[in-house]
Amino acid sequence: MQDLTPAKDTLDPIEMASRDEIEALQLERMKWSLAHAYDNVPHYKQCFDAAGVHPGDLKQLSDLASFPFTVKSDLRDNYPFGMFAVPREQIQRIHASSGTTGKPTVVGYTKKDIDNWAEVVARSLRAAGTRSGDVVHVAYGYGLFTGGLGAHYGAERLACTVVPVSGGMTDRQVTLIEDFAATTIMVTPSYALSILDSYNAQGLDPRQSSLQVGIFGAEPWTNAMRSEIENAFDMHAVDIYGLSEVMGPGVASECVETKDGPVIWEDHFYPEVINPDTGELVADGEIGELVFTSLTKEAFPIIRYRTRDLTRLLPGTARSMRRMEKITGRSDDMIILRGVNVFPTQVEEQLMKVDALAPHFQIELRRDNRLDQMTIHVEPANNLVSTDAGESAAADLTRRIKDVIGISANVQLADIEGIPRSQGKAVRIIDNRPA
Ligand code: DLL
Repeated sequence: MQDLTPAKDTLDPIEMASRDEIEALQLERMKWSLAHAYDNVPHYKQCFDAAGVHPGDLKQLSDLASFPFTVKSDLRDNYPFGMFAVPREQIQRIHASSGTTGKPTVVGYTKKDIDNWAEVVARSLRAAGTRSGDVVHVAYGYGLFTGGLGAHYGAERLACTVVPVSGGMTDRQVTLIEDFAATTIMVTPSYALSILDSYNAQGLDPRQSSLQVGIFGAEPWTNAMRSEIENAFDMHAVDIYGLSEVMGPGVASECVETKDGPVIWEDHFYPEVINPDTGELVADGEIGELVFTSLTKEAFPIIRYRTRDLTRLLPGTARSMRRMEKITGRSDDMIILRGVNVFPTQVEEQLMKVDALAPHFQIELRRDNRLDQMTIHVEPANNLVSTDAGESAAADLTRRIKDVIGISANVQLADIEGIPRSQGKAVRIIDNRPA
């Protein structure tokens, strides 16, 4: 793989600024953001008043801890536009979550917000090793989901040639990558695996493709998966993180030269990590729930938003801004199996160690005789010759899961192509337990 480290003089000055400079900017912007939310969003005024705090109380960054959290249900309760801080006429774009559980959460952007968003995504692409003039294949879904359009505007901002393919029609994805000679692909890691299958099915060698960089996010994925994808395509694989409530993709993104966890673009998003049970701040380096406060957003300022994503804050390396550790899971996705906490990423990590199994999996939960049971559905690798080898690979995975994670799971071998393929965010858990 080529060294794609961006030249220092192509970075935004703030990416290399001193911690003092970054914190001074954050404080100034945080004061503005709190006041903007308080003055223009009835929800924030009510919550701040109830907690006995006022934006004027914020004298230093750590004072933020006395302000109330915002949670997803606050957004739902104010559906659709109740959390907007500007008149609707100034909203240039709306995005929304899929809303599979109840009403969708709606977010809005002013022209300036779209501009800042494009800026942080362009910065993310540059950090990944993408350069002006590169061909960027965007396979994140376009539409109300922030992935497609968020990636698109960032790639345009970096002056790339953007191919807005969106998700789906997997064989055609391969054709377009090959014909247009894409150098960067932006896609969920699980859909990248579907694209990989299609390469193999068409008898094409993915290592010979023009791709140099893959920018993967929107769902948890492991370093083991990173190696798998990097080897399969002979390209760099970096992690991009974000969520619609805070902006979309590009809240944090990894540097190609270090690949040591996404750098949080701290000049726009202020991170905190809390103990999810008590709400107390934990020290940098300790694992907890990630919380974000927007520093520049006009349409939809968000104060201390509880993401439910579990990670820890790490010091800067390639940039002066802090990093977050690659996300191991959301508190929503944590399975408690007979007292042991398990995340799908832990299963992924073990699966990647078994060569005779394909990297696709789904976890099914059932309840038999009042005991929860976990079945992991996997399928043999494409090149597997015998059924016996498949069975022995499944047994190998069962053993690894028992030894490393400490749970007894039933590993079930499906046919090749037997596990449903993702075209966006993978569905990892099928919960068939009675409610
Ligand atoms: O998934 C935004 C996005 C699009 C990020 C494309 C990156 C690339 P939502 O649909 O609102 O927004 O989902 C946000 O997805 O809270 C995490 O749980 C998860 N997530 C996003 N990026 C990552 C990542 C987009 N790199 C939720 N690693 C977040 C792990 C991620 N989980």
